[in-house]
Amino acid sequence: MDKIKIAIAKGRTAEQSIELLAQIGIEFSTYSKNSRKLIFTDKKEQMEMILVKATDVPVYVEKGAADVGIVGKDVLLEEQADVFEVLNLNFGLCRMCVCGKKDFELSINRKLKVASKYPKTAKKYFDKRGISSEVIKLNGSVELAPILGLADVIVDIVESGKTLKENNLEVLAEISDISTRLIINKVSLKTKSAIIKELISNLQNITQKGDSI
Ligand code: PRP
Repeated sequence: MDKIKIAIAKGRTAEQSIELLAQIGIEFSTYSKNSRKLIFTDKKEQMEMILVKATDVPVYVEKGAADVGIVGKDVLLEEQADVFEVLNLNFGLCRMCVCGKKDFELSINRKLKVASKYPKTAKKYFDKRGISSEVIKLNGSVELAPILGLADVIVDIVESGKTLKENNLEVLAEISDISTRLIINKVSLKTKSAIIKELISNLQNITQKGDSI
């Protein structure tokens, strides 16, 4: 059978993604959290796993460098890749939110300054509501922006709420629920149909609440 390549987002969901694959018999026993290795082959030699930056997962899958990928819906909303999003894996649960200082009034009469790692998602949200906005793209620690006056608010993911709390910020509005998704390269779904369909079905069985999209 063909070997398939899976792109996994490095970072907070990597361990859970690898654990999920182990539950369906795909074990990457040579993987260790502290290793700098980026490519792993599973025990049965059916799958190759590549570890990439979360925002690059849809790029690898769209271009066919990986057949499938596991990545957060936050990244998919922002990147708009031409891939099939087939399964909600129901982990990495968090919310995309507008956050800022307590009682900040979103309906101000001037242009709203927004800082975000998700500039397209942020712009779209405010445009839809007729709120004029200037979005500043940041790459991390976005909570600093309203504190230092770089922006009025941020658009970011909130998981436990700890980062907001420790920086005296709060959720001002919710944009959408986020979870991790399985994405598939459009050509691979045809050329490696049997093995990919088996993977989808096995993952669907263990994620239970998973809906086929
Ligand atoms: C994410 C996000 C928030 C934080 C939310 O950042 O951008 O800052 O996690 O999680 P919490 O609600 O559980 O506190 P990440 O940890 O990925 O780091 P970054 O700021 O460097 O992007």
